[in-house]
Parts: sequence; C-alpha cells; structure tokens
Amino acid sequence: MQKRQLGPCVTFFPQPTTLVASTDNFGQINLMMASWAGIVSKSPPTMAVSLHHNRQTYANILETEIFSVNVVTPDFVAEADLCGLCSGKHQDKLSLTGLKTEPAKATGAPLIVDSPLNVECRFYKTLELGDYRLILGEIVEIYACDRAYNDNGTVDAKSFNPLVYLGGLREYWTLGAKCADAYSVGKTLVPHKNL
Ligand SMILES: Cc1cc2nc3c(=O)[nH]c(=O)nc-3n(C[C@H](O)[C@H](O)[C@H](O)COP(=O)(O)O)c2cc1C
Repeated sequence: MQKRQLGPCVTFFPQPTTLVASTDNFGQINLMMASWAGIVSKSPPTMAVSLHHNRQTYANILETEIFSVNVVTPDFVAEADLCGLCSGKHQDKLSLTGLKTEPAKATGAPLIVDSPLNVECRFYKTLELGDYRLILGEIVEIYACDRAYNDNGTVDAKSFNPLVYLGGLREYWTLGAKCADAYSVGKTLVPHKNL
C-alpha cells in the first residue's frame, strides 16, 4: 500500500464522539464536545479525556471532581457539535441546545438524557501534556439504554448508534455493518493452536 507522510498531526480515526458534562461549584451545568476520550483501564475501570487547559469543562472538573462522558448519536449531532463551537464561559449550552440532563445516582454528575450510553466518573488525576491536560476519571457507573438489550440477554449494538469522529477530516460518521467477532476471528487463522 502506497503511503504519504502527514507529519506529527492529529489525523487518526475513528475516535468516539462524546459530550463531556460537568458542573461548577454553583451547579451550573456545561457540555463540551470531546473526541479525545476513551476507556484506558479495566481494573480499576478508568476513563480518560484530554482537554485544553482553557476549557470551562477542565475548570469544572477540577472544581467539583465529577463529570460524565456521553456517547453522541445522529439524533443530536448538531446540538453536540454546537457544544464544540462555543465555551461555557460565554454561553449556557443547555439552553442553547435544548439538551436535557439528569443527575447520576452516585455522584450527581450530569448525564445527558438522550445519550444511549453515559459514563459517570469521579476525577482521579491529571497529566500535563503541553496545552492539554489528560484527565483520568474513575468510572463509577455506566448507564446503557434499555432498548439495546433483548429479552434473551443479547445486545443490539445498532440501538446505540454511536457517531464516530474522523479526526483530521472533521467529519462525523455512523457505524457500518458488523465485520467479525472480537477475541475470536483471529483464531480462524491458526485453527490448530489452542489460544
Ligand atoms: C468534534 C470535536 C471534537 C473535540 N474534541 C475535543 C477534545 O477532545 N478536547 C478538547 O479540549 N477540545 C475538543 N473540542 C473543542 C471543544 O469542544 C471546544 O473548545 C468547546 O468550546 C469547549 O467548551 P468549554 O469551554 O465549555 O468546556 C472538540 C470539538 C469538536 C467539534
């Protein structure tokens, strides 16, 4: 495959499309679009988000030590994008977008009602990366939409309908079709091996 070098930039995909919800000490809720987010440990369950140090969201998380990471779907892509276009320092993004939140059970962190997957986090620690701060949060709870779970216990991934973000191209895409089973399809290459 012929390649071109892009240099040390931020072109990488897919990335998740998430809204980070936080509050300040006065209870003012703020929403911010973030694609540099993901689960980075299973034990203990840990979420990472990387925020520019001037984000209102960063100030809020340091102040109240709680936040949530919410998966974005096509149903509210414009509202979510708007949360990436302006800062909570100048705008009330809840009233601007009409998005609704509800308090998470353990911490009270705001969760986005229309998101099919909310991750409730408690601030753990931060790492300085130049202009950015990598924030690690303990995952306290995950709320997944009921409609994705069938009576027989299987999960219909399409019900989540998460948007992916193509970093560098600045485009939101939906998921395509399922390709294979993870932790499994690789075994077909070495059927004689007991992995
Ligand atoms: C698709 C998209 C992804 C973004 N991802 C991040 C990110 O991971 N980290 C970050 O600091 N800013 C990111 N931004 C920019 C912030 O969302 C934006 O600066 C926002 O206004 C910050 O809001 P706040 O100041 O209210 O926290 C992203 C914006 C968009 C549109």
